[in-house]
Amino acid sequence: MYLLRENFSLKAYNTFGIDVKARFFAEIFTEDDLVELSAQSVFKENKLLVLGGGSNMLFTEDYMGLVLKVSIPGITSQVSDHVVAVTAGAGVVWNDLVQYCVRNGYAGMENLSLIPGTVGASPIQNIGAYGVELKDVFESCRAFHIPTGKIEKFDYAACHFAYRESVFKHELKGQYIITEVSFKLATEAKINTQYGAIQQLLTERGIVHPNIADISAIVSEIRVSKLPDPSTIGNAGSFFKNPIVTEAEYIRIKALFADLVSFPAGDGCVKLAAGWLIEQCGFKGMVSGNTGTWKNQALVLVNNGGATGQEVYSFSESIIDAVAHKFGVKLEREVNIL
Ligand code: FAD
Ligand code: EPU
Repeated sequence: MYLLRENFSLKAYNTFGIDVKARFFAEIFTEDDLVELSAQSVFKENKLLVLGGGSNMLFTEDYMGLVLKVSIPGITSQVSDHVVAVTAGAGVVWNDLVQYCVRNGYAGMENLSLIPGTVGASPIQNIGAYGVELKDVFESCRAFHIPTGKIEKFDYAACHFAYRESVFKHELKGQYIITEVSFKLATEAKINTQYGAIQQLLTERGIVHPNIADISAIVSEIRVSKLPDPSTIGNAGSFFKNPIVTEAEYIRIKALFADLVSFPAGDGCVKLAAGWLIEQCGFKGMVSGNTGTWKNQALVLVNNGGATGQEVYSFSESIIDAVAHKFGVKLEREVNIL
């Protein structure tokens, strides 16, 4: 049975804590709820926004359509020959799934510990952190096709995953509601400590042979030290993507700024640390009205209390302009602007 509300405050439903209203707000708990809701005029006659945990969204105005909160629960798993097939409902909190896997010794997602949001949103931008991306553990997902009402299955190849990208942000944008995601994990861990800070903490702690619980705990600790907790300081994680530039562009910038922070991005391209670019423009820890950047991470924009979405958006424009002016690099937002 779905829930339906009118003129509903979204303040508690977005991690920026922006106080806007949805004209209509519905919450579904099963695929059947979705089928039932999709037959109603409120679904057919309004524009639709699918909402998970609201941790990658910036609302700049009231949403004059239907906001659909996907709260489908449930995790199942099956082990066969060291391979673990795990399936989770789209409404499962991402970190609850990670911790379920870590507790059971299912390896592969431990580096993705403590990323906010839901399982259903995880394929949308191919979430990633500390050397692992969703695509490394993704098997398939089920999704409701909004125009036809049919449930379809997407395998890995169909999702066109890339850095913070998938088919659901491009060719199929706004067409599908993900209801369930399946993952392929392993009972034998391939521990990934390539991200410098992980290895550093393991060494400091004297952990020579880390298990997946150690990695999960250390990644969580690093994240807490760098990123603001949305329950106290509104934010949506990295506001911009790390820009990927050609080798020639990289050489041009490096010649001007010798300590440029960058990482190889494959195909002869280079990923620049947007946090570094923004910090060099003097924005780190800046307070601008009710918004600003986080003191430990210039890539994270914050709501210091009472900020409007417009205010945060305008501030993000000033960052884009400053970085373009100083480095000739165009920052793209990671956060969805509504
Ligand atoms: P929402 O913000 O609700 O939605 C995000 C997008 O997905 C929207 O376009 C929405 O319409 C769509 N969507 C949501 N659910 C569904 C569904 N079931 N079907 C179809 N479309 C759907 N991201 C990273 O990749 N790596 C990080 O390390 C990271 N760290 C973060 C740290 C903090 C403190 C915060 C606040 C955010 C961070 N993020 C990070 C961003 C965020 O956690 C991810 O983008 C996450 O996947 C968003 O999940 P959500 O459920 O909150 O999605
Ligand atoms: N840096 C600065 N100043 C800053 C911030 C960063 O100089 O204010 C430099 C540092 O040199 C640092 C480097 O940038 O070594 C990289 O910083 P960090 O390790 O914090 O990672 P990031 O590139 O800023 C990305 C993701 C995060 C993810 C972390 C860990 C993007 C846009 N962001 O951040 O994802 O958690 O790596 O893997 O790719 C998110 O997407 O919301 C998010 C938080």
